[in-house]
Amino acid sequence: MEDFSSRSFGNKNKKAGNVNNSNLNDCILTNRRQISDQEALSALDLAVKQVKKNLPLYTDHCQNHSSVNGIYPACDNVQWTCGFWPGEIWLAWEHVCSADNLDINNQRRAGADKKKDSDECIAGQEECSAGSLFACASEYAEEFRAAAMKLSESFEYRIENKIEVDHHDMGFLYTPSCVAAWKLTGDEKARNAAILAADQLMTRFQEKGEFFQAWGKLGEPGTYRYIIDCLMNLPLLYWASETTGDPRYQEAARRHITTCMRYSFRADGSTYHTFFMNQDGTPSHGETCQGYKDDSFWARGQAWGVYGSVLSYRYDPKPEYLEIFHRALEFYLSRLPEDLVPYWDMVFSDDSGEPRDSSSAAIVACGLLEARRYLPQKEADKCEALARQMLYSLTKKYTIWGGRCLSETDDDKNCGESGNLASPPGAGLLLHGTYSKKSPYNTCTEEGVDEYTSWGDYFYMEALTRLTRDWKSYW
Ligand code: GLY
Repeated sequence: MEDFSSRSFGNKNKKAGNVNNSNLNDCILTNRRQISDQEALSALDLAVKQVKKNLPLYTDHCQNHSSVNGIYPACDNVQWTCGFWPGEIWLAWEHVCSADNLDINNQRRAGADKKKDSDECIAGQEECSAGSLFACASEYAEEFRAAAMKLSESFEYRIENKIEVDHHDMGFLYTPSCVAAWKLTGDEKARNAAILAADQLMTRFQEKGEFFQAWGKLGEPGTYRYIIDCLMNLPLLYWASETTGDPRYQEAARRHITTCMRYSFRADGSTYHTFFMNQDGTPSHGETCQGYKDDSFWARGQAWGVYGSVLSYRYDPKPEYLEIFHRALEFYLSRLPEDLVPYWDMVFSDDSGEPRDSSSAAIVACGLLEARRYLPQKEADKCEALARQMLYSLTKKYTIWGGRCLSETDDDKNCGESGNLASPPGAGLLLHGTYSKKSPYNTCTEEGVDEYTSWGDYFYMEALTRLTRDWKSYW
């Protein structure tokens, strides 16, 4: 067995906080097109319109984790992914009603060519100009708020009645739903539900090995493991400590992060999806569940590692967390195809015929935009440039309406995948996501291959939001 405890993670020639690595530079030096502020605002307008169009379908229900033939089925609030849709609604609410945004939009839209009345436009008549949402901001803000609060009640019910909460994904569920509701509206019931969710997550902490057990019955043989995705569940615990004054939550989060940083990131910066511990607390081995095979590079796991490590740094600014961020990012960049959107497992390349996972690109863009806050200016600028390149590519090639919000250069006029600008109710935002693809070597059930994914849509909106205003994070 590899001696994990003695593994050195540091490239001794690199200072923590220095993203001056060759891949990052190469990406920027190729001078790829970056999304501009104005284009990001327009893209967000169009995303918000689709959220509005989808409200009637998913206010009394949740949205399925992924679409089926391009349309999300409605589902009960039982999946690990149900928090992303209310998160999108809150981002939409912020977009239409924040004072910052109105200022930006006033400037941007001063000379906007409003072809149609805004009511018609928001109802889905796609030929309307992208700027028209502004005029009806308050009306739609109330619809967004009411829908998100209704969903928040279903999250209260879910945690109070312990419905499908015997797993670690309390952060994915409760951060973009109830924590967002609390931060944005001060709703006490949402706050209480999120604290209960943090308590629920705490029941899964394993003292021996110091980690949150991801799935399965606690302590059962074959289930003694955590997964890299869990880094995204931990901001819920930091928030719980902050709001209650009880340090237990953040202490457990820190201990899990220490374990995860030690074992989940391989020497080359790639990541294991899942990591097993022995019952005595010593490390056992990495395995995949949703990647192609145990030693391959599941794209979304890598993306969770990039964003999760920089969020870990936000709450506990240890230089080694930024160093891990850099190394995970460097590996991710080294495996990207030309359009900066990874194949679902980064072991694949262009001739593989394998589908992409666009959601990974949206998650990494959020990580890069978060990292700007902690890096020297030059390095922060590079991260932002890279995020803008990724978001340009996502908007241009991975939305059906991309061409409408990018500048009308000859190259951009025909962008957007299908040229069909009328996305139906139930459609998502970001095409070509992959939830779980079965391989001969992995243990997942195949679902949501080359479809919209609920988190892909959410993180695409979050990344655009981060570009358009000084956003107060839900995480
Ligand atoms: N957290 C599971 C996934 O990313 O699919």
